[in-house]
Amino acid sequence: MFKMLRELHGVARLYERLFLDIIVSIFYTLFGGLLPNLHVPYRPLDGKVAIVTGANSGIGYQLSLDLARRGATVYLACRNVSKGEEAVQAINQDLDRSPNHVDSKAGRVQALQLDTCSMSSVKAFAARWTDEQKGKPIDILIHNAGISSTPKGQDVTEEGLGTIYATNFLGSFLLTNLLEPSIAAGARVVFTAAAGQYAGNLTSLLSSPGGVPKPSLFDKLLGRKTPDSQLYADTKLMQTAFASTLQQRWNRQPFAGKAMSAHAFMPGYVYTPIFSKTANLPIYVDPVWWALKAFMALSIPVEQGVATGLWLATTNELEVRRHGGSYWDRMTRRMSPAHLMDPGVLQRVWQCWERDCGARWE
Ligand SMILES: NC(=O)c1ccc[n+]([C@@H]2O[C@H](COP(=O)([O-])OP(=O)(O)OC[C@H]3O[C@@H](n4cnc5c(N)ncnc54)[C@H](OP(=O)(O)O)[C@@H]3O)[C@@H](O)[C@H]2O)c1
Repeated sequence: MFKMLRELHGVARLYERLFLDIIVSIFYTLFGGLLPNLHVPYRPLDGKVAIVTGANSGIGYQLSLDLARRGATVYLACRNVSKGEEAVQAINQDLDRSPNHVDSKAGRVQALQLDTCSMSSVKAFAARWTDEQKGKPIDILIHNAGISSTPKGQDVTEEGLGTIYATNFLGSFLLTNLLEPSIAAGARVVFTAAAGQYAGNLTSLLSSPGGVPKPSLFDKLLGRKTPDSQLYADTKLMQTAFASTLQQRWNRQPFAGKAMSAHAFMPGYVYTPIFSKTANLPIYVDPVWWALKAFMALSIPVEQGVATGLWLATTNELEVRRHGGSYWDRMTRRMSPAHLMDPGVLQRVWQCWERDCGARWE
């Protein structure tokens, strides 16, 4: 009886922490611009190999630039290679101007084709990594590619998957699976998640194969499809849940001892092109996206938005090395609903991800 009461007390404390972290997260999202700037200690990355998805723009571009400035070899994985090449040029110009510029001429920054919403493109990318790059060990893998909404009539991909689900999450699940043999000891896998994860729902996937959106009764009454902001939030919770379950896998044999760690982070409300790509919808169709588009003045600069992700990818601090599988906001560990989920449910969700992309994790 006493033991049961102690356990209940422990669970109540976790929910209390989650509640407080949600409040903090809302505050940071709305008033991030008023908070002191984050500073990421410089750590040289010479000889390290990084892949960043969705790297031609916004947060992915800034992360690639910061990694390259520290001396890493960076592969920009972009759906549109010519936009990727333009980003490579811009990074190289920046490196040439830099006072501590390390040689950028040896193809240290390169663009590669990857469309995360297409599982065949993900497979082709992984095959090219094995063949052309000889399965080069990857020290930093940043899953950053993402969309907030889909153009009208493009909710489902040619492969029959929910477009937001495939782009923001499933492609990275499959990519991690296929690249796992190349992930180096001590590597960091980082997901650009979002505070939206607090509003995410994982279990809807159990009844919707392929993550194809199904409007709820409430949506039907309002005469609308499932809001894109809800589908987005679901994928951000998936990223956090995946980081946590991936870490559990890596804590076991044969990975234990390789010190590979996975982390999800929240960049804040960041000034990037993402909201100019978000559909203009009336407030009753998608109130969350409507509000974020209307209050862009509250967003923070991209250099600040990447700080936590850059820190997770590069730091040697014990706090990060010890707490793989965590969710971070402003370089601080926070609770996620994923951390309180029943392991049996998480396992079933994992099986849905495997089902949807055809991956098998040995
Ligand atoms: N901005 C924020 O306030 C905020 C807040 C929380 C989380 N995030 C997350 O941060 C990440 C980056 O977003 P951002 O704000 O930097 O916006 P962004 O500038 O629009 O960057 C998104 C990147 O993802 C790429 N992308 C989209 N679909 C892709 C696909 N199917 N395959 C490969 N790449 C694809 C985009 O390529 P194109 O240029 O070709 O479109 C672009 O390079 C996203 O995951 C987003 O959810 C952003």
